Amino acid sequence: MSTEEKEILEGRQGEVLESVQNADATTSKKLYIESYGCQMNFSDSEVVASIMSENGFSTTRDVDEADVVLINTCSIRDNAEKRVRNRLTEFKKKKADNPEMVVGILGCMAERLKKSLLEQEKLVDLVAGPDAYRDLPNLIDEVGTGQKAVNVLLSRDETYADISPVRLDKGGISAFVTIMRGCDNMCSFCVVPFTRGRERSRDPETIVQECQDLFSKGYREVTLLGQNVDSFRWNITNKGEIKNKELPTVNFAQLLIMVAKVSPDLRVRFSTSHPKDMTDEVLHAMASFENICNYIHLPVQAGHSAVLKRMNRGYTREWYLERIEAIHKIIPDCAVSTDIISGFCAETDEEHEDTLSLMDIVAFDFAYMFKYSERPKTLAERKFEDDVPEAVKSKRLTEIIEKQLSYSLASNKERIGKTEKVLIEGISKRSEEHMSGRTGRNSMVVFPKGNFKKGDYINVKILDCTSATLLGEAVEH
Ligand code: 5AD
Ligand code: SF4
Repeated sequence: MSTEEKEILEGRQGEVLESVQNADATTSKKLYIESYGCQMNFSDSEVVASIMSENGFSTTRDVDEADVVLINTCSIRDNAEKRVRNRLTEFKKKKADNPEMVVGILGCMAERLKKSLLEQEKLVDLVAGPDAYRDLPNLIDEVGTGQKAVNVLLSRDETYADISPVRLDKGGISAFVTIMRGCDNMCSFCVVPFTRGRERSRDPETIVQECQDLFSKGYREVTLLGQNVDSFRWNITNKGEIKNKELPTVNFAQLLIMVAKVSPDLRVRFSTSHPKDMTDEVLHAMASFENICNYIHLPVQAGHSAVLKRMNRGYTREWYLERIEAIHKIIPDCAVSTDIISGFCAETDEEHEDTLSLMDIVAFDFAYMFKYSERPKTLAERKFEDDVPEAVKSKRLTEIIEKQLSYSLASNKERIGKTEKVLIEGISKRSEEHMSGRTGRNSMVVFPKGNFKKGDYINVKILDCTSATLLGEAVEH
């Protein structure tokens, strides 16, 4: 397996690192911000950059010229936390040369590790949880006056709806738009409900406005983000009652349509769907709009109903397979990807075999695959023993990855000879002579650059592939 394939398949979430820059550098104070983990963290960093820019900070890519260094952290697995700790140790060395520099952590590690990082290990000056970003300017002032700057309060209603994020990626074609925050699901392995708090949806008008604004600035793709987008609801209580009868209600299928109507040239994606909540109404909305991409990320986690029960996922193997059938029936040619965890508490060989057999039935186009990593406070930590030996977890993960690689390759091979509509994202990372972009099904396509420019839609005839990429050339139709 190539390193690229390994990186792709072993999971972006929890292990992605990126530093960012905002071109507007006219102000004097400089912010360096680095994000780890899921897309939601990357999106949050853009909200943070916006709050900070209102307070006179421009972003820099060079940590050495930064007045404030913020690390947006991830707690989803232990190795994600380890990487952040290593990085903080590096910043501590830099701080020895530049004691004025303020170092802070944001995001999911904030609540759990505030005491140890701030007081015991003294790795950071400031800690701000996911709902405390409006307070950052105050917290930075507090550091200046020698106080312990901490705000990890979780909110029931903060959605940062009114904040217009500063876009930190340089591509300018594809943007993340957060539509809801937190999660109420309590999957037993997952730390997110503890780090990000209760689920709340953002005002749909502000979502549509943000998408319109992005389109007018040249963006051609939005990804609507939430831990569980299917439970997006506006003006509806979690019991299904209407809050204010004078106002309209909006569910996720309706929101998708509102965003799709911004322009037929704006591609709409979303993540993450939950198998227990994904409705046919959403699938019909996808089928009715050409610009809602034929791609669903539907984490299965495990293929055996008893494991799913221990995971508190709220569905069975049969339910999941029925949802897959519904996808293929309602949206022909829809790509499906998933997340899989190997070696969850008490997982037997037979249960693991059922994950493999489910993979054979579904033939996922793509998957993120992980070894189970016990997280503090979670239901699994309290109720079950993390008793699958590390070697067994690894062996099972290897089997899962190998199977997925063969299905990813098969899925890509099927596209050879077909013509795909591609949204160009820019010059290919591997060759100056090529450009790359994605199909609606979310496959990366590389093709000779010709006279095309990013943001163009073109038709590409697929000529060859690897398990990660399609290779082709532009054609008229
Ligand atoms: N151990 C391993 N993987 C996990 N995930 C979430 N929590 C854990 C954990 N404790 C995976 C799930 C989820 C994805 C974002 O990360 O597969 O869908
Ligand atoms: Fe975690 Fe489950 Fe919520 Fe996803 S749906 S964030 S896995 S608790």
